[in-house]
Amino acid sequence: MIELQAHAKINLSLEVTGQLKDGYHSLVSLMQLVSLHDTLLFAPAGSISMDTSDPLMTAEGDNNLVMRAAHLLRRTAGVHAGAYITLHKRIPTAAGLGGGSSDAAATLLGLSRLWGLDLPPDELSKLGGMLGSDVPFFFRGPTALVEGRGEQVTPLVLREPFLAVLVCRPYSIPGKTKRLYAGLRPQDMLDGAFTYALAEKLVRGEDIATLPLRNSFERTAFELFPGLGDVRRCMLEAGAGNVHLSGSGPTLYTLFPATAVDRAYSLHEKLQAGGLRSYCVTSVA
Ligand code: C5P
Repeated sequence: MIELQAHAKINLSLEVTGQLKDGYHSLVSLMQLVSLHDTLLFAPAGSISMDTSDPLMTAEGDNNLVMRAAHLLRRTAGVHAGAYITLHKRIPTAAGLGGGSSDAAATLLGLSRLWGLDLPPDELSKLGGMLGSDVPFFFRGPTALVEGRGEQVTPLVLREPFLAVLVCRPYSIPGKTKRLYAGLRPQDMLDGAFTYALAEKLVRGEDIATLPLRNSFERTAFELFPGLGDVRRCMLEAGAGNVHLSGSGPTLYTLFPATAVDRAYSLHEKLQAGGLRSYCVTSVA
């Protein structure tokens, strides 16, 4: 039996820089793993099957990246063995936290070990890229500059850890990511310079919690997710400094230096008491 943790990510910045010939978009993003995670167990079995604590996830659904990852690896590596996979879900789905992508990456890694393939991260990352644009990052975290459509991942060292309070208001918007990309306008496109400069600051050890951040989806996300502006207002009224969007949303977050545990927890508790789904997390080192 193999057990793996699949961590959530947040985008510290996300600049969409243009549209590629295949319709996908190019981006420059700074991505960071946080402590919130799903847990996956992989046990030997004759065929591939799974059990999950997430009632919304059907075993064979198109959005089930765990099953898709398992079948892709088995097909590509010509394996005949199966696996019984258990997914204990904690990361909210379709929230901009990369939960499904992280589960997919963990599945490729877990099954590569279970089946004795021990594929190198580069190969797993390539397979991951076939499942979703965010997946390759999860083989190179905890901190990385992500470019291309997500497949170019340059690991970085985060010198100054941080705390984050995440707020995930649930929305059910089919094809969410696709719709958010489609909603981008020329004025939302950026050139990546902000993210490159931010990456340098991060590596120099500047405290990210105090820095301004940027996300190309900001305008369109607040248009598409009804009431997201109210969530931001609640966070600001409860004492958050800057409020940022993760990925294409709808998760909003605010950062604190790692030493400000009391302040971060008190904000988290206030938000929860106000009925919001909030998580207090740390950056993964
Ligand atoms: O790769 P993934 O399945 O996460 O992408 C979902 C949708 O988001 C794609 O079908 C595409 O419309 C859009 N997308 C994009 N450019 C990217 C990543 C995603 O246009 N770099």
